[in-house]
Amino acid sequence: MQKLSVNNKSIDTILVLDFGSQYTQLIARRVRESNVYSEIYPWDIDENKIKDLNPKGIILSGGPNSVTESYTPRAPQCIFDLNIPILGICYGMQTLAEQMGGHVESVAHKEFGHAELEIVSDSRLFNKLNKKTNVWMSHGDQVQDLPDDYELLASTSTAPIAAMQHKKLPIYAIQFHPEVTHTDDGKIIIENFLFDICHACADWKIDDLIDQRIKEIKEIVKKDKVLLGLSGGVDSSVTAALLHKAIGKSLTCVFVDNGLLRKGEATQVMKTFKDNMNLNVIKSDSQDVFLRHLENIDDPEQKRKVIGRTFIDIFDSEAIKLKNIKFLAQGTIYPDVIESSGSESNEARVIKSHHNVGGLPDEMKLDLVEPLRDLFKDEVRNMGIELGIPKEMLERHPFPGPGLGVRIIGEITKEKISILQEADSIFIEELIREGLYDKVSQAFTVLLPVKSVGVVGDERRYAEVIGLRAVETVDFMTARWAHLPYEFLENVSNRIVNEIEEVSRVVYDISSKPPATIEWE
Ligand code: XMP
Repeated sequence: MQKLSVNNKSIDTILVLDFGSQYTQLIARRVRESNVYSEIYPWDIDENKIKDLNPKGIILSGGPNSVTESYTPRAPQCIFDLNIPILGICYGMQTLAEQMGGHVESVAHKEFGHAELEIVSDSRLFNKLNKKTNVWMSHGDQVQDLPDDYELLASTSTAPIAAMQHKKLPIYAIQFHPEVTHTDDGKIIIENFLFDICHACADWKIDDLIDQRIKEIKEIVKKDKVLLGLSGGVDSSVTAALLHKAIGKSLTCVFVDNGLLRKGEATQVMKTFKDNMNLNVIKSDSQDVFLRHLENIDDPEQKRKVIGRTFIDIFDSEAIKLKNIKFLAQGTIYPDVIESSGSESNEARVIKSHHNVGGLPDEMKLDLVEPLRDLFKDEVRNMGIELGIPKEMLERHPFPGPGLGVRIIGEITKEKISILQEADSIFIEELIREGLYDKVSQAFTVLLPVKSVGVVGDERRYAEVIGLRAVETVDFMTARWAHLPYEFLENVSNRIVNEIEEVSRVVYDISSKPPATIEWE
């Protein structure tokens, strides 16, 4: 269900070519925040695909490679023949410079973080900007010599060529990152490119989308039946609400209670969707099967695989019980699509095998319905609000597919799950009470595989250790540990050791990502 038109009107698209930067998705988001539709494709995209997309402009992203080395990615030659505006960012600028006959060098002084940009020539790209502005840099290479026919637009103290443009063609390049919020005028620069240079129309609006998606779903599904795995997370919940609106009782949702959910979560999900939203939801009580399959397993990757496989088996057997299902709906969103795109240019390395429902076995032959496939998380959330999903559900912190399974370090037992559920619920309850829940991006507790000595009254207590983890992040790719107030942490710690007999000690995780990941496993 590719988004190409709103109300049958084709809309202006900005193509972002990905050279592997961690910020590529942010570029597309920023463009969409300005109400212009944007899609990301790998730098080695097929030429015909570019023509099909018929973009109004192209942005070349940053990337981890060095153009000074051989066999590193280059912008496809065909984009220069289209005669449409191009903006190169960071690596995108360097490859433009190299391809146009300029010279790029690795410099001894790598530039990370804030820099003051001094604009030296007038350019549409810098319309409405002062001559000096703060920008965010992250590079080890830089353009040393301008290509022929290019002029210098701006410099920083360490990068003499920090922005350039072609003298006649609409090709622009900047060394800094306008897509990150640390670049003060980043939004203005992106909008200058979109509106003053590409002359794109701001016609991408989430409100039009619900009606359009409902219409598309009806056309595809007709009178057939659809099955959806409902996890209670934002993506599957919004998919469920959208499908329900489109096809009503032809949608059946299966909610698998794997016993690794947060305290009270199964009840809450069922209440929201079955009772309040009147959805057709079947609950599969599968706690025992998961526990049995997880017995004696302490390796994190194996746990993820076992949980993922068990989930599919259960979902599969529930699906078989239902007759005449023709479609499988999935809450796939745009970052999932990009992360799993198997291009050679996809620089993402597998750090953990994330568990998401990969679909049912081939013999079931269900067609996929993925109505959120081209949307970002915040767009999905906005859609959820419009669809009447309670705000508390939409604004909950993310919860990993394998659930508490990857927050109990070592082997998983029923007792450990229940200790962790209690600790987690105390931590979250206190965060909400103190108005801190929305200030952190994700918070949870971890049950460590060590015991420690404590003393209660005159008794020695050799008991469990709970780790508290809270992070602040924009995109979950990098994160800073949250600087929660000491008094707050003290209160949470007191409550946990006093209310949970099996726990004698609480520690706070002060690791950032990288090098640590957000979850412990
Ligand atoms: P890490 O631990 O890799 O986590 O820094 C980044 C974000 O992803 C979530 N996460 C998962 N989500 N299935 C998911 O659906 C998984 O297997 C999984 N592992 C981690 C994590 O909670 C954080 O928000």
